[in-house]
Amino acid sequence: MDFSTQTSAPEKIKTAALVVGVFAEGVLTPAADAVDRAAQGAVRAAVKTDFKGKAGETLVLRSLPGVAAQRVVLAGLGPQDAFSPKVLAAACRASLSVAAALGVAEAVSALAAVPMQAADVRSRARLAAIAAGDVTYRFDATFGKREAVGRPKLARLALAVERADAKEAEAGLREGSAIASGMSLARDLGNLPGNVCTPTYLGETAKKLGRTHKLKVEVLDRKQIEALKMGSFLSVARGSDEPPKFIVMRYEGARQKPAGRGKAAAPGGPVVLVGKGITFDAGGISLKPAAGMDEMKYDMCGAASVFGTLRAVAELGLPLDVIGVVPTCENLPSGRANKPGDVVTTMSGQTVEILNTDAEGRLILCDALTYVERFKPAAVIDIATLTGACVTALGHVNTGLFTHDDALADTLIGVSRQALDPVWRLPLDDEYQEQLKSNFADMANIGGPPAGAVTAACFLSRFAKGYRWAHLDIAGTAWRSGKDKGATGRPVPLLTQYLLSLS
Ligand code: BES
Ligand code: MN
Ligand code: ZN
Repeated sequence: MDFSTQTSAPEKIKTAALVVGVFAEGVLTPAADAVDRAAQGAVRAAVKTDFKGKAGETLVLRSLPGVAAQRVVLAGLGPQDAFSPKVLAAACRASLSVAAALGVAEAVSALAAVPMQAADVRSRARLAAIAAGDVTYRFDATFGKREAVGRPKLARLALAVERADAKEAEAGLREGSAIASGMSLARDLGNLPGNVCTPTYLGETAKKLGRTHKLKVEVLDRKQIEALKMGSFLSVARGSDEPPKFIVMRYEGARQKPAGRGKAAAPGGPVVLVGKGITFDAGGISLKPAAGMDEMKYDMCGAASVFGTLRAVAELGLPLDVIGVVPTCENLPSGRANKPGDVVTTMSGQTVEILNTDAEGRLILCDALTYVERFKPAAVIDIATLTGACVTALGHVNTGLFTHDDALADTLIGVSRQALDPVWRLPLDDEYQEQLKSNFADMANIGGPPAGAVTAACFLSRFAKGYRWAHLDIAGTAWRSGKDKGATGRPVPLLTQYLLSLS
């Protein structure tokens, strides 16, 4: 998708589809008013009869006299006093879906020009670009007839804004476009089936991303993982014939910061993102039930979000250092698989009694969390489809956030709201650690039914030592089930917005 700005008067803009906003009770935005005047009241007439201005509502008006655009798409913005970034994003999605369905190749939207208290024009343009990427995303990689999926022709979007706002809007579009590009990569990787998106495939994808986006990439194989003594990660990998990989991707932007422009990069080392990369989670010997098991191809969505965020950061050329780390393998039952009661030794030297082989995410992440100590990170964020319990607690709206660091929590909550990619903090009190007590090892890998998302985070906290750390449980937010089954690209917006806030 190609983004630009447009500063002509709305009625003079030549385009296949011009999107203008209308609030509830027929209150026109300035662009809608300009179009209405040029078309001698055609918008007001439509608003009286066919259009209520409800949030998400749309109406297409064709060939209006005095208006250069071939079509005007009215987009409902709801009550004026409730106008918010969320409503704007929904209106952008609704109107661009209409434009995509019309089959037009380009469109102009005046929605980001509508002012609001909660978001400046840069943020509004960013949200518009993310919405455009969201609406035009299609997954067709695994269809025999790709044409049948039908990629929308819509390839160019211009935002109509005031001349004085054009620079800021363009900055927002660049950010939104990079986020959309990162989300699209994360969604593609998530949606690919387990027989295609294997640990080896993720390793190859990392190398490709390294070549196109100037990242330093290392893909460690089983031998090298053994040399690092990642006994816990390897124990999960053993149950599968697919070889495990340990992927390290480094984006080094701190040194290439343009002289005199932008603030100094975050002090004290790189930000490290660690993504769970289970390319298929059958549960192992603690086998999962058959119903819905296909969705466990999404158990690498944490890894996918690390890939996507690195792509976004590299596209933006942010002046900071970011390292992506992905332990990746399958979790399958076999004659070599982990068995309940097995005790493994982690890279940290701590031992773990595996009481449930389906709690494998923490078993691969713990060794990655030990590995990243070497980078002396400014902060480490791990991202994982870790627990069904997090879905029970927060549903599909909020990602679970766990950290001991109140300042980091507040920052992440703030940027998550800004990015419309919300997180909700859950507790990490020491008292929960008692549930991980084992009679045979330093800890068990499960803490029993109560507070399952919390005890999983507690387990990880025992390995996240020597740096600021936060854990994101994206089990409920990384993909949608049902008839719209598919990866969401979350939390790429949150992570990119966090890194933008540091640069
Ligand atoms: N990948 C799953 C978590 C998951 C389950 C995410 C369902 C989204 C939907 C994870 O590896 C897992 O199986 N967790 C177990 C932990 C339990 C055995 C303590 C779970 O949540 O059931
Ligand atoms: Mn599992
Ligand atoms: Zn899993």
